[in-house]
Amino acid sequence: MSQARESQHQALFKPIAFGPHTLRNRIVMSPMTRQRSPGGVPGEQSVAYYQRRAEGGVGLIVTEGTCIGHPAASGYNNVPDLFGPQALEGWKRVVEAVHQAGARIVPQLWHVGPIRRLGQAPDPLVPGYGPSEISEGGEVQVKAMSLDDIEQVIEAYAQAARDARAIGFDGVEIHGAHEYLIDSFIWSQTNQRDDDYGGSLANRTRLAARIVQAVREATSPDYPIMFRFSQWKISDYGARIVDNAAELKVFLDILVEAGVDVFDVSTRRFWEPAFEGSSDSLAAWTRRLSGKPVMMVGSVGLDKAYSIAQLRGNENPDAGQADLAPVVGQLQSGAVDLVALGRMLLADPQWPTKVFENRLAEINRFDREAMQTEI
Ligand SMILES: Cc1cc2nc3c(=O)[nH]c(=O)nc-3n(C[C@H](O)[C@H](O)[C@H](O)COP(=O)(O)O)c2cc1C
Repeated sequence: MSQARESQHQALFKPIAFGPHTLRNRIVMSPMTRQRSPGGVPGEQSVAYYQRRAEGGVGLIVTEGTCIGHPAASGYNNVPDLFGPQALEGWKRVVEAVHQAGARIVPQLWHVGPIRRLGQAPDPLVPGYGPSEISEGGEVQVKAMSLDDIEQVIEAYAQAARDARAIGFDGVEIHGAHEYLIDSFIWSQTNQRDDDYGGSLANRTRLAARIVQAVREATSPDYPIMFRFSQWKISDYGARIVDNAAELKVFLDILVEAGVDVFDVSTRRFWEPAFEGSSDSLAAWTRRLSGKPVMMVGSVGLDKAYSIAQLRGNENPDAGQADLAPVVGQLQSGAVDLVALGRMLLADPQWPTKVFENRLAEINRFDREAMQTEI
């Protein structure tokens, strides 16, 4: 990347500190499940996939969700693990390839919680785990977690972070969004507990905070911990964990106190106002209320919002090349610090380089085909 230092997209290419490291720019690859790791082991295909995005110029990669070492962490076939010698060896090769291409990389630590059902890999007899029981057809599909279960899961997150650090990852992202385990405790609709982990927003955030604390203790004071959260859920795009800025502040204060360094605010459209009475996005509110660096995401470079239906193949994700000026504006004004792209980086790994060199017309289109056969 050699030209156009003075381009109108300059704000995207300003380096930024990330723990003891420096990211070369503000462009992040958003976590995307690809289901290409048979037996939980990321292989050569994964190495090449992440290497291409690093070579294309992103500053930071957040990997697809990777399962922590707990029997109910997974809910999908062929998703990678972050435990066991083979999976860790596979990830080590991914990390080395990404570093060689000048980018930084963190794994997304994942436990699917109550999204899991009986019959799923790796052990079909293990139900989902969640804050509250879910029975379907007379069978317990999701077990209400005991206090012992909670301690085990916290330790599994800590161990995953220890292993991530040992094999060279530059930090970790804790997946606290989209109705998976941590979010299912935070969201009042899925949490009916009446102990210390249910009831008030502070209680519902307790599992998240304890996991962040455990990850901090398992790593080091300067090891970057990112935390992804969202209002939207897999089962309800209109859901909310907080209704206003005051509640958001309660939530964020707990997580900052626990040790979060960077918030990854998962929205489907980065420009949408978070609350009535202000045009500020959830990411901008989070930046202001937490004082921590914030990553925004959602339809950057696209004009159609991410939907689960796309992944299941029954919605066409066709989208054009949306205007980048509002994205750059969010960085320039200091509203956010990092900008993540998901689908656009499937369609075009060279997106950062092409934007840097002002070759916008050469950016590949994102469409249904890009979703299936990304390069
Ligand atoms: C194929 C695919 C898989 C995804 N998997 C994950 C995931 O594992 N973890 C996660 O937090 N978000 C996941 N997401 C959401 C993306 O990280 C991102 O937030 C979303 O696609 C919006 O960004 P975009 O509009 O730039 O695509 C996935 C999205 C896509 C398209």
